Amino acid sequence: MCGIVGIVGVEPVSERLVEALKRLEYRGYDSAGVATIHDGRLDRRRAEGKLVNLDIRLRGEPLPGTIGIAHTRWATHGAPTENNAHPHFTDGVAVVHNGIIENFSEIKDELIADGATFATQTDTEVVAQLLAKLIREGMDEREAMRAMLKRVTGAYALAVMFRERPDMIMAARSGPPLAVGHGRGEMFLGSDAIALSPFTNEITYLVDGDWAILTPAGVEILGHDGHPVKRQRQVSHAAAYMVDKGNHRHFMEKEIYEQPEVISHALGHYVDFLDGRVSLPDSAIDFSAIPSLAISACGTAYLAGLIGKYWFERYARLPVEIDVASEFRYREIPLSPKAAALFISQSGETADTLASLRYCKDLGLKIGAVVNVRESSIAREADAVFPILAGPEIGVASTKAFTCQLGVLAALAVGAGRARGTISAEEEKALVRHLIEMPRIMSQVLNAIQPVMETLSRDLSKCRDVLYLGRGTSFPLAMEGALKLKEISYIHAEGYAAGELKHGPIALIDENMPVIVIAPHDRFFEKTISNMQEVAARGGRIIFITDEAGAAASKLETMATIVLPNVDELIAPMIYSIPIQLLAYHTAVFMGTDVDQPRNLAKSVTVE
Ligand code: AGP
Repeated sequence: MCGIVGIVGVEPVSERLVEALKRLEYRGYDSAGVATIHDGRLDRRRAEGKLVNLDIRLRGEPLPGTIGIAHTRWATHGAPTENNAHPHFTDGVAVVHNGIIENFSEIKDELIADGATFATQTDTEVVAQLLAKLIREGMDEREAMRAMLKRVTGAYALAVMFRERPDMIMAARSGPPLAVGHGRGEMFLGSDAIALSPFTNEITYLVDGDWAILTPAGVEILGHDGHPVKRQRQVSHAAAYMVDKGNHRHFMEKEIYEQPEVISHALGHYVDFLDGRVSLPDSAIDFSAIPSLAISACGTAYLAGLIGKYWFERYARLPVEIDVASEFRYREIPLSPKAAALFISQSGETADTLASLRYCKDLGLKIGAVVNVRESSIAREADAVFPILAGPEIGVASTKAFTCQLGVLAALAVGAGRARGTISAEEEKALVRHLIEMPRIMSQVLNAIQPVMETLSRDLSKCRDVLYLGRGTSFPLAMEGALKLKEISYIHAEGYAAGELKHGPIALIDENMPVIVIAPHDRFFEKTISNMQEVAARGGRIIFITDEAGAAASKLETMATIVLPNVDELIAPMIYSIPIQLLAYHTAVFMGTDVDQPRNLAKSVTVE
């Protein structure tokens, strides 16, 4: 994930900015840069690779100035080169950015048609160019910032400097976090409180849609409508190197809310936003040449793989053999050595998954690892590594790793379909468009449903048993919802294929066991409605998670109906993960369990 830092004050800033960036190294990056304003001059130093390279650059060519912004970049648009490193400049405007400007392509075309020339392949440069154009057309910096924010779409955190205003940094947040640090005679900006901990522990987190104007005297925070808003000023206890909870009560809550940011970085690694196509990293797995694919994992990672199975089979027409690793490794499955196998693991250290990998490796299959820890055992023993780039996941219950695993598997399945000729270039572009929009929609859903999920969780916390139902990719999601609930609230829960209800589980239905039905208005909707009628006819209470079309189509009485935006089937599992994660989280909070460290559980099961 990218990292942002800014300082506006009266002391030299460049060295302090680099020191602050070092506290964000845990987020992962591949280039870095600093910009300052001094004596009316906007200047920058950038370097590929680690921060030590930027340090060397600055020692050789010092950068004076008491105002500056700095950035560690995780490449999404364009290679990790110095030229693509932030800050991006144009005509007196400097910008650093975290996230994705979704509509950068159309804005870039407009600006080029208006005579702009671009120096980089990045979406970020569009922000600098657009601001410069608006100022050339007569707006002041505040008007230009507000107009730019109205024009761009996507999930982003931004810090901006203007050469003509050496006393001011502007910032904006829509998705990725951004914190303002309060100093004495100087103000700070950072992606989280860790970056700011060397300067201050007095922090104000911006909220989605906020933008801010920092000067040495203080900060003015404005809402979407440009009117001032009040945000809580709090004391942060972020130890210098401890991953920070931000303004969340638990790591799990923070990681649920980090999803739009981290998934946009994960996608940026597999999707070419410029061409609207999947661009798979060079890997030892040639999807066009394999007769079948094996997938194995444990727990939530297994359920991500089960959703991936639906995608590989539908979009790439690739037969998939999948099982939980503890069974897979002993079944002696007769797999072709020409096949490939994917092993999904957040930690990359799960013993059963590693053992299954070795079973397939001994058979001669090509091995792919979908992992969050690049230097893990599973990654090291694979032929091809597909990182999910979720950043450190501290909560034992997997949330952002799950949706990032889904994002990577979706990109791999679409890429495999393209390689096997089972989807056209146009179909690929349409699917990639849905993937690009997904972080923004996820961010909207997070903000929209939080209150109702909290209320609903209060009722759920009084139950002993809960049943989750779904069809298609909503079936593994039903199992994931049940797993989330049981592992952190200790309430017994089961996830079932909705079509299986009549084959047994319907015997359980009564008014004491809520039935959570996950049903976007897709190909299966009508059949799932029939299942809901069977539940209602027996006095069962239904929590219905659907979309606008589904809510309009269903006449059924429910305990609650959670209405999400209408989305394409490909991204529905990522979007519908949000309500099931929040339901589990808030129920556990009401139950008073140890949400981040549930009883009996470990973050990585390195024993069999
Ligand atoms: C998920 O919430 C659980 N913490 C657990 O099921 C986890 O997914 C499983 O242990 C696999 O871990 P891994 O992804 O690190 O291999």
